[in-house]
Amino acid sequence: THVLVIGGGQNAEHEVSLATAAAVTGALRCRGFEATNLTIGRDGRWRHGEALGLTAAASLAAALPLLERADVVFPAVHGPLGEDGALAALCALAGKPVAGSDLRAGAVGMDKWMTKLVAEAVGIPVAPGRLVRAGDDIEFGTAVVVKPVSAGSSYGVSLARDAGQLAEAVRLAARYDDRVLVEHVVEGREIDVAVLRDADRGCWAAPPLEIHPGGDFFDTATKYDGTADFTVPADLTGPDLAVLTRAALTMFEALGCAGVARVDFFLTSDGPVLNEVNTMPGMTAESQVPRMFAAAGVPYEELVARMVHAATV
Ligand code: DAL
Ligand code: MG
Repeated sequence: THVLVIGGGQNAEHEVSLATAAAVTGALRCRGFEATNLTIGRDGRWRHGEALGLTAAASLAAALPLLERADVVFPAVHGPLGEDGALAALCALAGKPVAGSDLRAGAVGMDKWMTKLVAEAVGIPVAPGRLVRAGDDIEFGTAVVVKPVSAGSSYGVSLARDAGQLAEAVRLAARYDDRVLVEHVVEGREIDVAVLRDADRGCWAAPPLEIHPGGDFFDTATKYDGTADFTVPADLTGPDLAVLTRAALTMFEALGCAGVARVDFFLTSDGPVLNEVNTMPGMTAESQVPRMFAAAGVPYEELVARMVHAATV
């Protein structure tokens, strides 16, 4: 099976996507797949090779023959114009299976506001929140977290405790998306649940992971400076584990996800509150999803191979 792994991308998570793509490519080769790399530059030019500049940059049109030769595509691009379904749509138009979610699941999962609406519709609690735009006259009588609706790795996310901080936080978020989400801060433990749809077991969840962010929240710096502390499996009571797992599977199904998704929660004294769904989560061997599946007895290379296999059956 020839797998085309697409990494990079035109958004703030470009470097993270390069790391995911490199790790996935290595895992596939290790498992005997023929894996080719295609990198989308920050400039939107496509390059064939593992690192930027290895071969000439070209337009998407020039990269299409590589897509044509692939049996399966692994779209390892986090964030807008990748994870949001853009790559899944390109592959669907080209008639190529993808090791991951389709256009619809990617688009809804990338949109934190739409995800909230879906969660509410299926009975999963979310933080009270509002959609705003930069310049709107807004007031909240409580501490809030401000996020771009469509972004990842916590880029553009900050906490605001008063009106001045709120205006600044909205300006920061609006650099990533003109739609901004303002949510009440949720006090709780940060718990991630990884879900996989594979050919053998269908849809199933690995043991959850707890994040110990150190600071106020799991921000961009903490995500990638190596200081984050995880516990996997998270120390959970039987009832909490059951509710978290059911909620993660419900979101996976409601969005119609495929491949893997990481469903992130705050576990409060009243139970889990959904934070977000990542349809192309960080996938290096050290990222949360592979750690959770390792705890379930599925090593990294095997996880990636299962994602590719599930795309072809
Ligand atoms: N958006 C980052 C890559 C994650 O969810 O892991
Ligand atoms: Mg995310």
